Amino acid sequence: MSTQLARATGSVLESIGNDPYGSFIDETIGIVTRHGGDIVSFAVGSPAPEALALARVEELVADVLARDGVRALNYGLTEGESELREIIAVDARRRGIDASLDDVIVTAGALQAIDLVCRVFLRPGDVVVAESPAFANALSAFRNHGAAVLEVPTDESGIDVAAAARAIRRAPAPPKLFFVVPNFQNPTGATLSEERRDALLALASSVGAVVVEDDPYGRLRYRGEDLVPIAARSRDRVIHLGSFSKVFLPGIRVGWAIADPVTVRRMSAAKQTMDSSTSTLSQRLVVAFYRRGGVPAHIASLRRLYKEKQDAARQALTREFAGTPVRWSDPDGGFYFWMETGVDARRFLDAALEEGVAFVPGDAFTTTGGFRDALRFSYCAPTSDRIGEGVRRLRRAFDRVADGA
Ligand SMILES: Cc1ncc(COP(=O)(O)O)c(C=O)c1O
Repeated sequence: MSTQLARATGSVLESIGNDPYGSFIDETIGIVTRHGGDIVSFAVGSPAPEALALARVEELVADVLARDGVRALNYGLTEGESELREIIAVDARRRGIDASLDDVIVTAGALQAIDLVCRVFLRPGDVVVAESPAFANALSAFRNHGAAVLEVPTDESGIDVAAAARAIRRAPAPPKLFFVVPNFQNPTGATLSEERRDALLALASSVGAVVVEDDPYGRLRYRGEDLVPIAARSRDRVIHLGSFSKVFLPGIRVGWAIADPVTVRRMSAAKQTMDSSTSTLSQRLVVAFYRRGGVPAHIASLRRLYKEKQDAARQALTREFAGTPVRWSDPDGGFYFWMETGVDARRFLDAALEEGVAFVPGDAFTTTGGFRDALRFSYCAPTSDRIGEGVRRLRRAFDRVADGA
């Protein structure tokens, strides 16, 4: 089948090696590439090509090489470049998070920060509480570190904290860690409400667990007011993760974690066996981006761009799926709609690829095998015109699957 992952070869290495959990989100990039032809991809959470062009990276590369020369190409401090740590701390303080440079570790994307958190806080058999559905790569990271994931239902206000409390009472051990994406969650687009942010902190505190607040989309709000980050409510047991991937350039792989200095030191020790330090050149590019000025204006442009795409996607879905039982979420920001389709999403994806459109099936976002009739629809990458065309193709694929063709 076109959506299969690794192919068994019967090799010696295969018989000796382990089989880590990966991410079907990442797999869809390969599936779309291998399929070839003209595909409108609603599968990836990659910034739009127009958004990447807005960064005017050629100027930044020239600036870095002129100012820093080969130093920008050398190894760096494990915790990250001091200027960048300071930039991250200043931005965090603007959002109400009481952070200084010593509380920041720069990582190879937020994804590496998630893995470092696992290395520092989890041992095999530990329990992690996560949203259901949740960011697939994080679920796999927890499982690769031997943790048991307790998935808790979410609604339009994020994780159901009362349900989490009930699930914890039935769990074999108290949780070590809660993992949430509080703003425009991947994959549902939901934002965790004020009340639930407080309730989550109280619950974590009552069971002695850490809260990991993973917030790569927080600055991409298209309507309504920003909510106070969980880490701004309490720094005691909260680790705040961020990323330059969605608001600058994902390919440079720069993200961060904000925690207490001891945790930063522990994460640094773990990082020393991974990559020693995050790419110095990438970090210097971020510093140059801030030095050039205009970061708030850049982010405002991104908000306008993605709002337009979100509007185009909403209108196209409303038009093309009128009269069907298909429903989708209505997020205030971010990159994703969560769609409930009533048909098997893996079969839907096969038909969709034949029609020239792609998405990520819902079962990628759970460890339970659920959400088989749901899917994640990313509107961030295609242009508004292509979004319209992609949704027309999606409807054709839906009709084929719904008709049993
Ligand atoms: C919720 C969430 N966390 C983390 C990441 C990873 O971001 P980065 O590129 O910084 O590793 C993503 C990317 O899609 C995401 O959606």
